[in-house]
Amino acid sequence: MAKTLRVGIIGAGGIARGAHLPNYLKCGDKVKIVAVADVVQETANKLAEDFDIPHVFMSYEEMFENVEIDAVSICVPNKFHYNATITALRAGCHVLCEKPPAMSVNEAEEMRKEAEKAGKILTYGFHFRHAPQVEALKRFVEAGELGDIYATRVTAMRRRGIPGWGVFTNKELQGGGPLIDIGVHMLDTALYLMGYPEVDTVFGVTYQKLGTKQGVGLMGQWDYENFSVEDMARGMITFKNGSSLILESAFAANVEKADEMNVSLMGDRGGAELFPLTLFQEKHGTLVDITPVHLPKKGFHELELERFVNACLDGTQPISTPEQGVIIQQIINGLYESAEKGEAVKVSESVEI
Ligand SMILES: NC(=O)c1ccc[n+]([C@@H]2O[C@H](COP(=O)([O-])OP(=O)(O)OC[C@H]3O[C@@H](n4cnc5c(N)ncnc54)[C@H](O)[C@@H]3O)[C@@H](O)[C@H]2O)c1
Repeated sequence: MAKTLRVGIIGAGGIARGAHLPNYLKCGDKVKIVAVADVVQETANKLAEDFDIPHVFMSYEEMFENVEIDAVSICVPNKFHYNATITALRAGCHVLCEKPPAMSVNEAEEMRKEAEKAGKILTYGFHFRHAPQVEALKRFVEAGELGDIYATRVTAMRRRGIPGWGVFTNKELQGGGPLIDIGVHMLDTALYLMGYPEVDTVFGVTYQKLGTKQGVGLMGQWDYENFSVEDMARGMITFKNGSSLILESAFAANVEKADEMNVSLMGDRGGAELFPLTLFQEKHGTLVDITPVHLPKKGFHELELERFVNACLDGTQPISTPEQGVIIQQIINGLYESAEKGEAVKVSESVEI
């Protein structure tokens, strides 16, 4: 592999502009952004102009045919993650695909197989894993400070945070609402901290109570007339090791906080909450809370991109793996299936991680 990673960008919207491009640029000579592809020419042109990208295409197939590329960032709506990933892997590229992995378990599994066949890196944009709080807590968990983690709570709740841009409220293009969009971040973080235990059963409920009505928009004014996703999802997941996880995720709900993303872990030796990072223990007959006095300042997107670049150059697998992508897709799609059926769903296929 050359010392400079030649990167292509697929999808020139919000996350490409706000997180991928600026952080690739921080990698200096290790990276050259060689091309961008977006179905909207104007969007691609604007990104190319702002970030000095030499080649612009309206399709990623055309991009792969015309430019030598070592790695891609896939920043398109969820429906297109699968095809873009498969095409990129077949073109011999390493892939950083934005979250969620895909729209279905089959797609995530095909993506995993294709990466294995191609011998290329496939990783997902679960950037919270690179947050200093998560990295610190992971070390405490691995050192046994929490003991056996048997109960977990996952929160991704917004008061009126229905995105007023993009296609986040379009089920056909995104596969769902807050569960697959923001719940998936905290779910992945919790599973990562728990060591991705094998899933047993999922039980989900979804609601559409506020999204289809006009209301105060704290993240822009959403299109309530074409709102086709859930505005809240709740669920319970049980694991084969006996532990359980409760999840709550909403774009809009009548709650106090405007935006709450968090994970709580409860083990038999200690517990922890992620934001702000606090550990709860009983020591020498006293209940104590432990809080860090210092955490590293580097941003999670910066670390995610820097580590992806280094992994591509070294040929190592980043911490978010294709196998975990299949598991998270099993849980997300299982929760939606359960909500539709009104009954718990068994996750039958186990995945080796
Ligand atoms: N990690 C995070 O926190 C985070 C945050 C926001 C979005 N995302 C993810 O990133 C992805 C994109 O979200 P966004 O906010 O940038 O959306 P966006 O709507 O701002 O941008 C998506 C872009 O993709 C383009 N596009 C659509 N279909 C395409 C295709 N087939 N080929 C090429 N380009 C195509 C659109 O024209 C648009 O410019 C989604 O999967 C989303 O879940 C992740």
